[in-house]
Amino acid sequence: MNLCFSTMALTRLLVTAFFLSVVNAKLVRQSDEVRNELEEYVQNKKAEINPRYRLHYHVMPPVGWMNDPNGFSFYKGEYHIFYQYYPYDSIWGPMHWGHSSSPDLVNWKELPTALIPEEEMCFSGSAVVDGESLILIYTGRINLEGDNYNESQYLAVSDDGINFYKHVGNPVLALPSGGSPDFRDPKVWKHGDYYYVVIGTTTNNQQTGRVVLYRSSDLISWEYLSVIGESGDDLGYMWECPDFFELDGKFVLLMSPQGVEPQGDRYKNLYQTGYIIGSFDYETFQFVPEVDFQELDYGHDFYASQTMEHDGKRYVLGWFSMWEQPHPEKDDGWSGALTMVREIKLVDNRILMSPVEAMKQLRNDTVLIGDFNEGQVLSFDNTAEIIVEGDLEYKIELLIEGRNGGDQALITWDPAVGKVAIDRGSDDVRQVEWSPIGSKSWRLFLDTSSLELFCGEGEVVFSSRLYVEDPWNVINLSPQSLKIESWHLKRSVPES
Ligand SMILES: *[C@@H]1O[C@H](CO)[C@@H](O)[C@H](O)[C@H]1NC(C)=O
Ligand SMILES: *[C@@H]1O[C@H](CO)[C@@H](O)[C@H](O)[C@H]1NC(C)=O
Repeated sequence: MNLCFSTMALTRLLVTAFFLSVVNAKLVRQSDEVRNELEEYVQNKKAEINPRYRLHYHVMPPVGWMNDPNGFSFYKGEYHIFYQYYPYDSIWGPMHWGHSSSPDLVNWKELPTALIPEEEMCFSGSAVVDGESLILIYTGRINLEGDNYNESQYLAVSDDGINFYKHVGNPVLALPSGGSPDFRDPKVWKHGDYYYVVIGTTTNNQQTGRVVLYRSSDLISWEYLSVIGESGDDLGYMWECPDFFELDGKFVLLMSPQGVEPQGDRYKNLYQTGYIIGSFDYETFQFVPEVDFQELDYGHDFYASQTMEHDGKRYVLGWFSMWEQPHPEKDDGWSGALTMVREIKLVDNRILMSPVEAMKQLRNDTVLIGDFNEGQVLSFDNTAEIIVEGDLEYKIELLIEGRNGGDQALITWDPAVGKVAIDRGSDDVRQVEWSPIGSKSWRLFLDTSSLELFCGEGEVVFSSRLYVEDPWNVINLSPQSLKIESWHLKRSVPES
């Protein structure tokens, strides 16, 4: 214990600061030495990364491990995304917050690690802009004896969007007494005079996932309001990464349940991400569900999504991976990525997702615009966007593979069953009904080790990782020729 405190005194220089903010946080800065050492390590380690699976237009950790997106926000003219990050190995470890920013949600630059763990690991959370400050609220996780742990909510503040200072009075929101130890992933927003936060938790017998709501006028002292959602019998034992927002006149409770049993085509991933649509009243703090839980993305690799709103548009992205998957890039010194950012809309009681408009700016040279004949093989370099138009009365079958082997994915539409399916082989199929509400085309995005398929207006979206040798061949196995437009895409994230 003593040793622990003296190390802390060295690493935690008491530089205090107050920023222009209604939040009267007293702030402390981790020493430059600790931060510089980490950045130097990251820069040196980059040279050891094998680039074979590195993506060209998805946010990834520069080195090491990434999971959930955090702190998705717009601050001083730029979008910011943070993520759960362990720089020292390509497997999960004590969580830091990695950080990237973008002017347009498409071109991303890497920024220094925003949060470094001290006595607390820096688990998932969110961000809110207050005056000149960007404020992060995150779960501080402290492991106790045995398998026990303590999760409570911490604040960190920046006035430049790069350097973050932790609040001296952390944690600001501790576990309610007698509650479950699972109490994490605060998602904050401002409404009227108050900040609100939803937190993912479970009942104290750890059988029922739930989301609880709190409010505060200063982000420091919090008042419990209500349980806004609970899993009942069939939606798992824990709800992680909750998000709660108004969308096209309804309220959406988005979360990532753990412990949902597979049912037919549904819930085949280890954990799910999905949403419940309903109504909400800021007087009674009650959320009344109107539409049952639906998955947000039907692919193999999508989890822990987070949204943000700017200029009247709401955007979402997720961890482009899944727990307990092989993550072949681990052997290359890194693991995990974020999906491309999608704009969401609510139509006919479901969320439609489409790539942000600026994705079109990445189109570079045309590969083929015109007929993609039966049996034709089309080769692409690392990246591709392919718009596919077929006659939905007939089958559509596209085989996606490497020029030199590795994984394969068969993407199919079968009018006899009315489903779109992505089959990665060995029965690893994800499929879902599709009845187009407008456009009948597909937009398929390939990046070095990933595919994202948007059907129609975004009624059905799949995000799956695919590890091929020497990308890409796309082969038209349909019993029809298809009309396609296809391009290579420009790089929009740093080359490591
Ligand atoms: C958990 O953390 C809170 C906030 O620091 C503290 O009040 C509480 O005593 C801790 N509980 C345990 C069991 O350590
Ligand atoms: C765009 O395509 C051209 C022609 O193939 C190529 O020379 C150039 O490097 C590409 N630019 C980018 C940014 O990928």
